Amino acid sequence: MEKFIIHGGHPLEGVVTVSGCKNSAVGIIPATVLVNGPCILDNVPEISDVFLLFDILRSFGAEVTRLEKSTYRINCASLKAPIVADQPAVRKMRASYYLIGALLGRFGKAKVGLPGGCDFGSRPIDQHIKGFESMGAKVTVDLDECNVVAESDGLKPASVYFDIVSVGATINVMLAAVGVPGRVTIENAAKEPHIVDIANFLNAMGADIKGAGTNVIRVNGGRELRGGRYEVLPDQIEAGTYMVAAAVAGGRVEVRNVIPKHMESISAKLEEAGIGIEELDDSIIVTRFDRPSRINIKTQPYPGFPTDMQPQFATMLTTSAGTSVITEGIYNQRFRYAAELRKMGAKIEVDGNVCVIDGVDQLKGAKVRACDLRAGVSMVLAGLAAEGTTEVLDIHHIERGYEGLVDKLRALGADIDKVDDGVPASYSPEISQ
Ligand code: EPU
Repeated sequence: MEKFIIHGGHPLEGVVTVSGCKNSAVGIIPATVLVNGPCILDNVPEISDVFLLFDILRSFGAEVTRLEKSTYRINCASLKAPIVADQPAVRKMRASYYLIGALLGRFGKAKVGLPGGCDFGSRPIDQHIKGFESMGAKVTVDLDECNVVAESDGLKPASVYFDIVSVGATINVMLAAVGVPGRVTIENAAKEPHIVDIANFLNAMGADIKGAGTNVIRVNGGRELRGGRYEVLPDQIEAGTYMVAAAVAGGRVEVRNVIPKHMESISAKLEEAGIGIEELDDSIIVTRFDRPSRINIKTQPYPGFPTDMQPQFATMLTTSAGTSVITEGIYNQRFRYAAELRKMGAKIEVDGNVCVIDGVDQLKGAKVRACDLRAGVSMVLAGLAAEGTTEVLDIHHIERGYEGLVDKLRALGADIDKVDDGVPASYSPEISQ
């Protein structure tokens, strides 16, 4: 079993360069299905979720070639219907559901395995389905076969109003809408930077999408997308994770290849906690002068504070001065990692969507589990600050979303190693976020 071993207590110093945005890449790669020609993508994060998507596209008959580090050429021109996306890789990751929108937009029909088995309870896709149906698709969810079939005799112009703000539904409906001969208006759309990035990618390939980044997106579909070159946006959450790493472990870190505007809610909360933030053109310097102060946080859709930074901040606040309250506004169960932090001496209590943290002087090393991607990286951050040795298990969750984490942290002075103790990993039912 592969795991991280961290000897804590080393402040971080130096420069770290952020990779391409995972949540953009996992939308853009399925979006290449809509393009009738070669797409060259730069700044692609080399993470396991991206490699899974490449495997899925290759199984459809697409050409995927690595031109150089982080640069790939994808050509889906030769794809032919019907395409069934039900490989094991599809069920391992959440973002494979973007294949529904992309295949529907290109061929008017999609059959795609449900992500992570049939768990419709906690993270439903009803808004995606509502959007596809508004465009005239008939959508059937087969819980026995664990797949979604969306089919149409021709998608039609529509106005789609989402009942809740959903990143995934906004992207998925935008993808299908590219194949509609006419206008699709998406109202109450999510506004995250990666939604703008995916729209920019599609526009660079020949689409006509306006309003991404606001809550009304207009897609004038039916144009042929012919290919081109596009650079994936830097990863807001990876950048935020290294900013918090400096705040947790101490030291001074320049986080490069960021768009400071996208970091505003994260920078503001770090400053509120007394952490030094200096914004340059495409980098942010983070300095820890003192123990962080207590703060309260509520997660919200962009431009609010991101849920994907919630576990990292919780970890920082375990050693802050005073009591902090975090309210999770997006998911019902995103505090599962609290039990792991308690093993390290944290005082953290969870009641529903609220978590209360009483800062302690010092965390202590322990054997902890990565419950999911962001919770997992937060265990690494905790290990950097802890006294003694921390072992982080189930690191495949972390490797889904952080390129070169060990190398990047070691370059900053952290004492972290990835080891394989030869013990098989236990079965882990969690799916990619
Ligand atoms: N929701 C519904 N119905 C739907 C869709 C969503 O009820 O049809 C609910 C969800 O259950 C959740 C809320 O709406 O409570 C927001 O979900 P959203 O659809 O916005 O999330 P997502 O698209 O499933 C993406 C990211 C997540 C990130 C969220 C929120 C990808 C692949 N995943 O998920 O990323 O937390 O947006 O910003 O883009 C991560 O990177 O660690 C991660 C979890």
